[in-house]
Amino acid sequence: MINTIVKGIGMYLPEKILTNDDISEFVNTSHEWIYERTGIRQRHIASEDQMTSDLAHMAALDAIQDANINAADIDLIILATSTPDQVFPSTAVKLQDILNIKRGAAFDIHAVCSGFIYALSTADNFIKSGKYKRILVVGSEVYSRILDWKDRSTCVLFGDASGAFILEGQNKNSITSGIIDSVIRSDGQYRGKLYCDGGPSMKSSTDNFINMDGKEVYKHAVEKQTAIVEELLDSAGVDIDAIDWFVPHQANLRILQTTAKKLKLKEEKIIVTVDKHANTSSASIPVAMATAVKDGKIKRGDMLLLEAFGAGFTWGAVLLRY
Ligand SMILES: CC(C)(COP(=O)(O)OP(=O)(O)OC[C@H]1O[C@@H](n2cnc3c(N)ncnc32)[C@H](O)[C@@H]1OP(=O)(O)O)[C@@H](O)C(=O)NCCC(=O)NCCS
Repeated sequence: MINTIVKGIGMYLPEKILTNDDISEFVNTSHEWIYERTGIRQRHIASEDQMTSDLAHMAALDAIQDANINAADIDLIILATSTPDQVFPSTAVKLQDILNIKRGAAFDIHAVCSGFIYALSTADNFIKSGKYKRILVVGSEVYSRILDWKDRSTCVLFGDASGAFILEGQNKNSITSGIIDSVIRSDGQYRGKLYCDGGPSMKSSTDNFINMDGKEVYKHAVEKQTAIVEELLDSAGVDIDAIDWFVPHQANLRILQTTAKKLKLKEEKIIVTVDKHANTSSASIPVAMATAVKDGKIKRGDMLLLEAFGAGFTWGAVLLRY
């Protein structure tokens, strides 16, 4: 039996910080409004010459160092993003080239804020099937480029970042560590609730920015994340009390707290980093994980529950022993 071990974790946040007060200088908002409704204090913004692949490169190097491997040891790259450098080729093959990896394969996954969970689940299946041994999974986004900085209802919510895991297959007698189980879901009937136009097959579009029905997204995020976690724990035969840390997609503090409450999960078990970087879409889970590991909160052997929700709608969860 092959276990999918998390061998290394890395992250990268661009240097430039934009606080709530900074935003209130150019749109009609305030720190109080943003903080009370979302728990966000600030976000990081990529410099003009930084693309999604540049952020991904930094996070990948951090994860490679943490895993104590060489880039050449990686035989598959799965990169989750909804803000790729180009329409094609994929940002993953660009990262493969930047890392000077000449073998294996690389591809992008597009599941918006659920992208990292989709990528982890895919990577886990590739490792457990024996097809690949060492996979670099990255979530990388430059949302500052798809925000309408005049729209106060969306521009305050997002930021730029990248996070990465190095996964490795290890032979064991049973699934004792690493990824225990994962589940991913989508329901395209809700795709109009949160979207960004401007795809090349769209003949004309009014704007290429994020549009969102905030209240609907909030409601579905709580409902669907609660249901999928219950489904995952049930199928894995794991009780909620066995979870040491809950590492949710960092969209909004109120969504995290409400979901945890519905799951009867103690609030002190939630990893919260959204205050420092806002919603960084597919990058948010690995950034939260890397932060919590570096802070000494998450330790080897801890049971973790990762979950996300995003446009589509897409959602999913991963249960893992770190
Ligand atoms: C976006 C969100 C914070 C808005 O909170 P809300 O309580 O639903 O607020 P509303 O949309 O009802 O807006 C209330 C008022 O605040 C105003 N408002 C919106 N954004 C504002 C801002 N940044 N600053 C000040 N006022 C703002 C609205 O215009 C509205 O004013 P009105 O009553 O005069 O029309 C909330 O809906 C949310 O968190 N949704 C989920 C978003 C999310 O996480 N998306 C990503 C998922 S992956």
